[in-house]
Amino acid sequence: MRKSARAGSGVSNSAAPTAPYRRHSCGLYLHVPLCVSRCSYCAFVSTTELEQRGRLVSAIAGELDTLGRRAGRELRTLYFGGGTPSLLGAAELATIMAALRRWFVVAPGAEFTLEANPEDVAEERLQRWARLGVTRLSLGVQSFDENILRRLGRRHSAVKARWAVAAALAHGFTVSLDLMVGVPGEGAKQVEQSITEVLQLLPHHVSVYLLELDKPTPLAALATRCPDTFPDEDAAARAYLQVGKALVGAGYHHYEVSNFARPGFSARHNLRYWLGRSVLGVGPAAAGQVGRQRFANVEDIQLYLERLEAGSSPRAWARTLSEHELGVERLMLGLRLAQGVGEGAVQRLAPPEFCEQLQAFLALGLARRRGRRVRLTPRGWLVSSELLAYLV
Ligand SMILES: C[S@@+](CC[C@H](N)C(=O)[O-])C[C@H]1O[C@@H](n2cnc3c(N)ncnc32)[C@H](O)[C@@H]1O
Ligand code: SF4
Repeated sequence: MRKSARAGSGVSNSAAPTAPYRRHSCGLYLHVPLCVSRCSYCAFVSTTELEQRGRLVSAIAGELDTLGRRAGRELRTLYFGGGTPSLLGAAELATIMAALRRWFVVAPGAEFTLEANPEDVAEERLQRWARLGVTRLSLGVQSFDENILRRLGRRHSAVKARWAVAAALAHGFTVSLDLMVGVPGEGAKQVEQSITEVLQLLPHHVSVYLLELDKPTPLAALATRCPDTFPDEDAAARAYLQVGKALVGAGYHHYEVSNFARPGFSARHNLRYWLGRSVLGVGPAAAGQVGRQRFANVEDIQLYLERLEAGSSPRAWARTLSEHELGVERLMLGLRLAQGVGEGAVQRLAPPEFCEQLQAFLALGLARRRGRRVRLTPRGWLVSSELLAYLV
């Protein structure tokens, strides 16, 4: 029988403040910028200099102390992303959680996600994460094809990925799995294989990302040198639609451009961003928003360490968004979601060229209207930049 990691048993806050904080609930994203090695497609802020980990953990704990003293709140969602938070050892996680619990109340039933590289998943770690109160594991599987995994520079094998997903499910975590499509070496067979494997494992949530090559990564350089190594744009789009159709056929809800969930398992933390709700950000390059205030930390890891060690703020910038900016942004984010946006908001906030293009999307079946709401279809999401360009 499955043990439940969802009950929040490890999320005790005995020393943390309570009453006034409940009025100001929010989410918190904590960026752990450590990786054993760099994957060939990845441009996330992270370092492979693992000897920095002690300084980084102290700096993150220090930032939590400063932030919490000013803005301690009840946390409805907590997300440890990266980088590779699954690399953190027991003492490092304990340091971070102690700082967090000094100033924040983790709400009963809160969603607490930890991103994990399948290679790092082990029985003892799963138990540790459950004890800490982690309720959800997001596993960077990417592919079930060994050749593709090697080309992507992943540390794990397909065999390890299968085991990691099954073990996380057996420990009672809500499990999300990342897949990438449009990757070199991908053909119809590999896409079918991904679908079969996912439907055998049946995680609660699946993220399907179309490979992005707009940042300077080794894979982007390869795409310039040897474009034939990659599926063309149409094949990548077909793969995205095919995986999506299979997931929807198996009962998953395609609730956001890249995200699919079994009923009740949409990513609550990510939904906070898409719905414009408050999220605090901690760690290098972390960003956040509270009400109309938007802010981000410096991306440079050394600068982040130096700032915190000197007792100064890691903020790169902070600014207040205007009502109009917020409204337009909600339109853009709303169109990423299956729930779409209200037509009233479109008429109030969007320029006439956007409305004309939206009519064209509706006529082509790239968007649908239901009642007073309008939403993009999966084919519409694939070409959404041609619509959203009129909003910026
Ligand atoms: C921070 S990473 C995941 C956690 C962990 N570091 C790992 O790799 O297992 C978040 C996800 O973004 C996706 N991703 C990263 N770079 C991408 C790119 N260039 N194009 C598309 N998806 C990408 C991958 O699916 C990855 O699992
Ligand atoms: S995909 Fe994950 S493990 Fe790979 S370099 Fe990026 S953050 Fe690190």
